[in-house]
Parts: sequence; structure tokens; C-alpha cells
Amino acid sequence: MQRFKDEIVIVTGAGSGLGRATAGRFASEGAAVACLDLAEDAVRETAEKIGAGGAKAAAYTTDVSDADSVGATVSAAAADLGRPTILINCAGIGKLAHSHEMPVDEWQRIIGVNLTGTFLMCQAAIRHMLDGGRGVIVNIASNAGLIGQPWSAAYCASKGGVVMLTKALADEYIKSGIRVNAVAPGGIETPLQGKFGVPEGANIKRLLKITSPWGNATPEQVAGCVAFVASPEASYMTGSIVSYDGGITL
Ligand SMILES: NC(=O)c1ccc[n+]([C@@H]2O[C@H](COP(=O)([O-])OP(=O)(O)OC[C@H]3O[C@@H](n4cnc5c(N)ncnc54)[C@H](O)[C@@H]3O)[C@@H](O)[C@H]2O)c1
Repeated sequence: MQRFKDEIVIVTGAGSGLGRATAGRFASEGAAVACLDLAEDAVRETAEKIGAGGAKAAAYTTDVSDADSVGATVSAAAADLGRPTILINCAGIGKLAHSHEMPVDEWQRIIGVNLTGTFLMCQAAIRHMLDGGRGVIVNIASNAGLIGQPWSAAYCASKGGVVMLTKALADEYIKSGIRVNAVAPGGIETPLQGKFGVPEGANIKRLLKITSPWGNATPEQVAGCVAFVASPEASYMTGSIVSYDGGITL
């Protein structure tokens, strides 16, 4: 399948996990891919791997929570590869904590990357998409944006925010040729899961509700769902939140 021939795709969080798999998936279907991540070496590795496979890719070291960094990167990507037509927001962080003990800095860091970062990237990309009269955005939410879970106030709030940001943008730009949707994964086999940690004294069994009997998805499985939502096959879809979670939220 070459569903993304002639498309210029920006993928954030492309240095690892879902973002890396998604960048590879779009490249394998003909897209030129701008790979963005805070982790310089990792994102360069992603772009080099795609380039070695014969597709076009460029790496950009970017902090999605910083408006200047986002603006400069999206302009550079547009100059290097062409006007972006697809944006996939995968960059994300998380950490479990007892809410009554959580430092406000930690709250702001998670909201800053997951929610504000997604907004800033959408804003910068939409400016280019409006010029071209078309565009597709897929934001990565989470089951944590649809149901509550303990020790996750900042993460759940950020992902719930991504859900409503997606719907609000979908409505605002519905007559501008820009589709905006979200994919809400459950567990994915990536390094992120190990970074959440377990707060002291927490009964880990309370997290069983977010564990699918099927185990975790692979990043490649989720990337396939993201690619479908971004593809012409989903051309009538906007404002949708697509759960891809092994039944966690059924
Ligand atoms: N892994 C899971 O179980 C799971 C479940 C549901 C949703 N998600 C979501 O999927 C997305 C991808 O996560 P993943 O599992 O691949 O994690 P990951 O840790 O493997 O990758 C996340 C990437 O985002 C990058 N990043 C972090 N902060 C950044 C910033 N400020 N600017 C730019 N890049 C930054 C990291 O460097 C990393 O490369 C996230 O939004 C996450 O919340 C993950």
C-alpha cells in the first residue's frame, strides 16, 4: 500500500516507541517524514533508519512544550520537506504519584508536554494546512483520557484534555479541509510504561482495570490504526476518538 505518496508527515515522539513505529509506517507507505523528538540521538537514529530503507526522512530535536521550539521546527520541516499535510502527535510522558503529594512542577510538566505540546503542534501545523486547503491530524490520547485510574491525575487530565482538544479543533476546522481525530491506545509495549513507576504504598492490583487480557499492543499494531485514521479510507471521519485498547474501556 502506498496511501501516503506525496504526503509530508510530521511525527512527534519519533525517537521511541509508538512515534518511531508510526514514522516508519508512514515512510513505508510513501510519505516523506519529519521526525521530531526531544531525544536528539534517538530521533536521528529513526530518520537514518527510514532513510536507509529508501524513504525520505529528516530529524529535528524539538521540545513540543516550548512554543518557540515548535514554531522553529515546523517552519524548518516545511522548508526542508514541503508543506506538512499530516501531523501525528505521539510525544508524551507520564508518572504515577499520590495526588496529595505531587509537586506542582510535576503536574505542569505532564500537562505541558501531553496537552500544551499537542496544542502547540496542532497550531503550528494548521497554519500550513490552511494554506494548502487540506490536512489531517491524529493525536495520541489514551484509555487514561476516557476512564479514571489511580495516581494518574495529571496523566488522565492531560489525555482527557487531548480528547476534547481533538473534538474542538475538528469542529473549528471542519469546513477548512482539515480532519482532526485521536487514537486512544491501552497498554503499548514501549519504554514509557517503565517510566510511570509505582508510588509508595500503592496497591498495584488497582491498576488491573487498565490491563487487557490480551496483554499489551505492539507499537506497530497501534501505528497501523493511526495510519488508517490518517488515510483516505477514513476521509469521512473527524472528531472521532478511536479506542485501540484490548477492550479496557468496553
Ligand atoms: N505505552 C503505553 O502503554 C501507552 C498507552 C496509551 C497511550 N500512550 C501514549 O502514546 C504516546 C507515545 O508513547 P510511547 O509509549 O511510545 O512512549 P515512549 O516513551 O516510548 O516515547 C515517547 C517519546 O516522546 C518523547 N518526548 C517526551 N517529551 C518530549 C518533548 N517535550 N518534546 C518532544 N518529544 C518528547 C520522548 O523522548 C520519547 O521518544 C504518548 O502520548 C503516550 O502517552 C502510551
